[in-house]
Amino acid sequence: MATRKILEFGRDDMLRKHSRVVDKFDKRLWTLLDDMADTMYEADGVGIAGVQVGVLRRVFVVDIGEGLTEFINPTITAQSGEQDGLEGCLSSPGEYGLVVRPEKVTIEAYDRHGKPFTLEAEGFMARAICHENDHLDGHIFKDITHHMLTDEELRELDEE
Ligand code: NI
Repeated sequence: MATRKILEFGRDDMLRKHSRVVDKFDKRLWTLLDDMADTMYEADGVGIAGVQVGVLRRVFVVDIGEGLTEFINPTITAQSGEQDGLEGCLSSPGEYGLVVRPEKVTIEAYDRHGKPFTLEAEGFMARAICHENDHLDGHIFKDITHHMLTDEELRELDEE
């Protein structure tokens, strides 16, 4: 188990950069993916992108409590519907905002061995995928939130 340092918005400009396509599905990539998962679990997150640990590659991992999925060179190929809900980010500790996302997405990606797969996701999984996919192009949820929670709203959330 190895965790890496999570970059934070406002401190690390790298988070605004575009990540590059992965072209080698080698041990170095596998170590990165393993470390990303360890880092995400230790921070109690549900997803993390390569750039958040300082690696500008098009990779992210997600686990919303239904098992870990690794996405390499992903593309969202279809989306439908709409959902409005709360999002946070490991790179913006303590901040939450409401974001409208598609209710369903179809995503094509590669696994760690370079094998392509297609996944259909809905609800919170679709939200997590959209959030992480945005990181690959330097976008963050705070760019598209329609309401950041106030301190008072955060306190109410804590009490729930
Ligand atoms: Ni994030």
